[in-house]
Amino acid sequence: MAKKGRVFSGIRPTGRAHLGNYLGAFKNYVALQDDYECVYCIVDLHALTTVEDTLNLRQNTYDLALDLLAAGIRPEETILFVQSHVPQVTELHTILSMVTPLGKLTDLPTFKEKARQQPHNINYGLVGYPVLMAADIVLYKSDVVPVGVDQAPHIEFTREVVRSFNYRYSTNVLIEPQMKNTEILKVLGTDGKEKMGKSLDNQIELAATPEETRQRVMGMFTDPQRIKRTDPGNPDVCNVFTLHKSFTPAEEVAMINVECRRAGIGCVDCKQRFAANLNKALEPFRAKRAELAAKPDLVQAVLDDGAARARAIAEKTMAEVRAAVQLP
Ligand code: TRP
Repeated sequence: MAKKGRVFSGIRPTGRAHLGNYLGAFKNYVALQDDYECVYCIVDLHALTTVEDTLNLRQNTYDLALDLLAAGIRPEETILFVQSHVPQVTELHTILSMVTPLGKLTDLPTFKEKARQQPHNINYGLVGYPVLMAADIVLYKSDVVPVGVDQAPHIEFTREVVRSFNYRYSTNVLIEPQMKNTEILKVLGTDGKEKMGKSLDNQIELAATPEETRQRVMGMFTDPQRIKRTDPGNPDVCNVFTLHKSFTPAEEVAMINVECRRAGIGCVDCKQRFAANLNKALEPFRAKRAELAAKPDLVQAVLDDGAARARAIAEKTMAEVRAAVQLP
């Protein structure tokens, strides 16, 4: 079947993947493979902009490759590669930086937030982060970029850079990408309040053991109004119930919805059910991940092959870009 175009997404290697990564991103990346030619990039250069992500960079990069492959990325069709393995992106980053007004970068909400988070380390790379991201996207002539809403300003920025570049050099070699918002649901952590993430230690890791997962789930916060077992609960405000919907058979979800409201089922029972269903759902992922972890050479070969295929596209684009800007 003819594919609809090329999808590109960059994923930061920030450590072991959790349910938030899975529901918020990986699931979509996997599904998009059916309709698009997909290019997925582990953005290790972007990770260098934040110190906490650099400490275990190599391990995190490898772990993310394992997680993506175990989740269902099919490297025979999809290009899965590591950003720094295709150095053309840094060349394009430099060229695009010449058509980027500095004020635009320092005005971006993502930059301002990072600057607030790490006031002692507002490095130049942080300012240029969106230029490198734009280079990622346009180097592969991507049509569609699946990202969460927080990345929308970066996609808009990319479109502007493409227009400026094409106008300045009277060319049409670069393509304006479309954004595809894939953040169907914001996944909250075990605290039931904040977005799931490693920094808040409220995550449920995909590759944890069933027992670790069960313990994590049993520690989850539920409807804060429900104190005693006999209190009726409200599933609409309970994160455990929200997550049930992604991992539990529909009939059981319907049963919990009814029984929780009339105190027919308690939070402990509800969480035990969730842990069991979650562990069952993650079984194939964990089996595949363990199988891959036992073959590091195979994972390396996948990434090498991905980089070679990515480089072929990148070199072609760069030849056009160099010609447009009159570099040799
Ligand atoms: N900035 C993205 C994030 O923080 C990661 C990223 C880097 C990206 N390059 C990209 C996403 C290109 C989409 C396309 O999640």
